[in-house]
Amino acid sequence: TQRIFSGIQPSGHLTLGNYLGALKRFVERQDDGIETVYCLVDMHAITVWQAPETLRQQTREAAAAFMAAGIDPARSILFNQSQVPAHAELAWLLNCVARLGWMNRMTQFKDKAGKNSENVSLGLYAYPALMAADILAYHATHIPVGEDQKQHVELTRDIAAKFNHDYGVDFFPLPEPVIEGPATRVMSLRDGSKKMSKSDPSDASRINLTDDADTIAQKFRKARTDAEPLPGSAEGLKDRPEARNLVNIYAALSGETQDQVLSQFEGKGFGDFKPALADVAVSVLGPISTRMGEYLADPAEIDRILGEGAGKAEAISAPIVAKTREIMGMILSR
Ligand code: TYM
Repeated sequence: TQRIFSGIQPSGHLTLGNYLGALKRFVERQDDGIETVYCLVDMHAITVWQAPETLRQQTREAAAAFMAAGIDPARSILFNQSQVPAHAELAWLLNCVARLGWMNRMTQFKDKAGKNSENVSLGLYAYPALMAADILAYHATHIPVGEDQKQHVELTRDIAAKFNHDYGVDFFPLPEPVIEGPATRVMSLRDGSKKMSKSDPSDASRINLTDDADTIAQKFRKARTDAEPLPGSAEGLKDRPEARNLVNIYAALSGETQDQVLSQFEGKGFGDFKPALADVAVSVLGPISTRMGEYLADPAEIDRILGEGAGKAEAISAPIVAKTREIMGMILSR
């Protein structure tokens, strides 16, 4: 049987990259007739410092963003990672399956640790094994993610395959990364060679789902571009990463192809294109941020919904982790 699982870290405001690359696609998958399980991964978030009250607030905000974007807690399981013990428990078991050499190849760790890797948390290093636990605790088969998470899903496959091989079982299905749609890698508005990220120190580098219309317009106005007018087709954007990114964002928001967008703006400069882009963005994001505000007005209700989701998530994951312990030779005391 198939099961979709994915997660987002509540380590800041969710961005337009998270929306187009992940959340919007999570919503679309709800209609596939396959079970969908979506997780706010607060235990991943704490691999770098999070002030406690901020983390709690950001986790509720992320839950509100999921629901405002169209995740229906009656059709999807929506929950918070730390409320379901299977994640931490299975992560330890998988830490003992994953190889150091595999972890050392993770590019996201290398990027995040930078030159100062002696002083990052052990959790940041082990993070991909926790992600493997998230996925494998549900026997998930399809993992919708943006481009940057591909390597982590591949590592999950390696861990699952090694477990199955070492213990001589056919227990964990090998999950498939599902990286599709027009916006698998939305780039920073300040630098066309970096991805748009919640944790970029520059707020001007990203659109947050919480930004109001004026802020969105201003950030696009200030977005870095070249000085050339727009070409007539996507071919002409080849060596223009910033221009390509903005056209791509427009296309992803409006549901058109890049060529369709360019046929409307051929020969126009960014002075014309950027306000039009802001309008499309506001028309899509405005209603989402309004609904987010409505959900956030009642944090107790968000906590109730997450609690219910955690109950459903636990019902699936606890037996899978118990079986994992049994396969590994542990005594099942309870
Ligand atoms: P996170 O929180 O960094 O990002 C959440 C999702 O958004 C996608 N994404 C983007 N897509 C397109 N353009 C961008 N600029 C962009 N930035 C982020 C990410 O690819 C991701 O799909 N480790 C994961 C969270 C996680 C997870 C999991 C995902 C934990 N456990 C299990 C899947 C399955 C992360 O840090 O995502």
